[in-house]
Amino acid sequence: MSSQTLREARKYEEATEKMIKAEQRPAFHLSTRVGWLNDPNGFSYYKGQYHMFYQYYPYATYWGPMHWGHAVSKDLLHWEYLPAALAPDSQYDRDGCFSGNAIELPDGRQLLMYTGVLNMLQPEGGTREIQTQCIAVGDGLDYEKYEGNPVLDDKDLPEGSSKYDFRDPKLWRKEDGTYRCVVGSRPADGSGQILLYSSEDCFHWKFEKVLAANRNRFGKMWECPDFFPLDGKQVLFTSPQDMLPQGFEYHNGNGTLCLIGTYDEETETFTEEKNQAIDYGIDFYAPQTILTPDGRRVMIGWMQNWDTCNMHRQMKEDGWFGQMSLPREISIKNGRLYQKPLRELEALRHDKVSYEDVEFTGIISLDGVRGRRVDMELEIFPGDEEHVYQKFAVRFAQDDQYQTSISYRPHESVLKVDRKFSGSRRAIIHQRRCTVPSEKGKIKLRLILDRFSVEAFVNDGEKVMTATTYTDQSAEGISFYAVGKVRMNVTRWDLSE
Ligand code: FRU
Repeated sequence: MSSQTLREARKYEEATEKMIKAEQRPAFHLSTRVGWLNDPNGFSYYKGQYHMFYQYYPYATYWGPMHWGHAVSKDLLHWEYLPAALAPDSQYDRDGCFSGNAIELPDGRQLLMYTGVLNMLQPEGGTREIQTQCIAVGDGLDYEKYEGNPVLDDKDLPEGSSKYDFRDPKLWRKEDGTYRCVVGSRPADGSGQILLYSSEDCFHWKFEKVLAANRNRFGKMWECPDFFPLDGKQVLFTSPQDMLPQGFEYHNGNGTLCLIGTYDEETETFTEEKNQAIDYGIDFYAPQTILTPDGRRVMIGWMQNWDTCNMHRQMKEDGWFGQMSLPREISIKNGRLYQKPLRELEALRHDKVSYEDVEFTGIISLDGVRGRRVDMELEIFPGDEEHVYQKFAVRFAQDDQYQTSISYRPHESVLKVDRKFSGSRRAIIHQRRCTVPSEKGKIKLRLILDRFSVEAFVNDGEKVMTATTYTDQSAEGISFYAVGKVRMNVTRWDLSE
C-alpha cells in the first residue's frame, strides 16, 4: 500500500518530466527524472536488469526531504525511469529517506536498507536529525516498509557514537548465507568510523565492531561506505566530509577516500595498507559499486560535489539538477585503484576520426575533431626527447568565449582540469590538480564528454578527473595547445544517445 506522499511524488514526476526535453539532459549519464538528485542508492542487479535508486527531491532543483528515485537499465547507459520507490512518509523517516543499498533475498524479493531521518526537538532548543537504519521490501517496482522499522537505532551504536550521524548502510551476503552491512558513523573524537553489523535474515541486525576508524586523518564524518573484495585485496570506499588537503591527493571539503587493505573473514578484521582519493577532479562523491553478472566490479558516483552544487545549480533553469558519473570498471594494479569507462560505452561510438604523429607547437585544431558527446583517446609524446615540452592542453566545449581544459606539465608532473571559462558565473572551485609522473612527458588520456561533463581517464585508468560543465551546447570546439614540441596520436568518436 503506497502512502499519499509517495502517490503524490509519483504523480508529480510523471507530469513534470515531460517538460524536460531529451537534449536538455545528458545523453548517456543518468540524471534525475525531475528536480534534484544526489547520491546513488541501491545500485544492484535484480531480475535481469540493473537498478539504480537515488537521493531524490522531485519538487525543486535543490535538496529537500529525501525520496528515492528509481531507474532501470540493461547496459548501465540507457536508463528507463520507474516510479519513485520511497517517500518520507513514516513516523521514523518523516524527514527523509537517506542513502542506502539493495539486495535480493533468497525468496526473490528485493530488500532496500536506508537511513530514516527524523527531526527531533531538543531539550536545549532547536531540532536535530536522528538517523536510524530502516528496511523496505518489494518486487523491483513497489516497496513496502518493514513493520519492524527502524532495524538499527542508537541502542545499536558503540559507546560515544552519535545518533545524529549514523547513515548510509551498504549490504552484502556472505557465502554462508548470513548478511553484513557497514554504516557510516561519528565517534566521540568527532571524526568518522565505519561500523559493521551482522544478520541471519537481513531483518534483525546486530552490532559487530568498528571496522575502520578515521581518527581525524581524512576529514571528519565518513559518509556512504562501500566494502568489497577486489583483485585479491579488500577495498573500503567512503566519502569524508570536511577534508583538509594533503598535497594534491586530497582537497578541502567533501572528498572521496579509497582504503586498500586485507580482510580476515574469520575475525572480520580489515587491515589498511594504502589510501588514495577515488577521483581527482571536482565533481565526484558517494560512489557505490556492484558485481555484474559477468564478474566485473562497476562503480557509479554522484557527479557533483556538495561544496559547489548549490551555486552551480542556479545557472540551470530546465527542471533538473544532478547526474551520475559514468559507470566505471574498477580494479587494483600496483597497489592502486584503476578505473576504466564501462566497456559497453564502446557500442555508442560512431564516426571515428583519427590522426597519427601530429607534431605541433602552439595551438592547433584537427578537422573532424569536435563535439560535446565524444570519446577521445590521446597519446602524448615529447616532440623532442632532449627538450621535453613544457605544457600540453586539450581544450573542449570551446567557442570564442568558452572552453574547459585538461592540461599537463611534465616537468611538474601535474595534470589539471580547468573549467573557469565554462560559463560559470559563480566564484566556486573551477580548477583541480593531481600528480601524474611520466617518462619524458609520455601520457595517455581518454576523455569522455557528455553534454554537461568531462571525465578524463589518465594512463589507462591510473587516475580520473571528473568535472561538470554547463557550457552552452553550441560551444563544441576542441583544440590542442603545446608549449614546446608535442607529438600526439588522436582517435575520436562521437557518442550516440
Ligand atoms: C551524502 C549524503 C549522505 C546522506 C545523503 C542525504 O552525499 O550526505 O550521507 O545519506 O547525502 O541526501
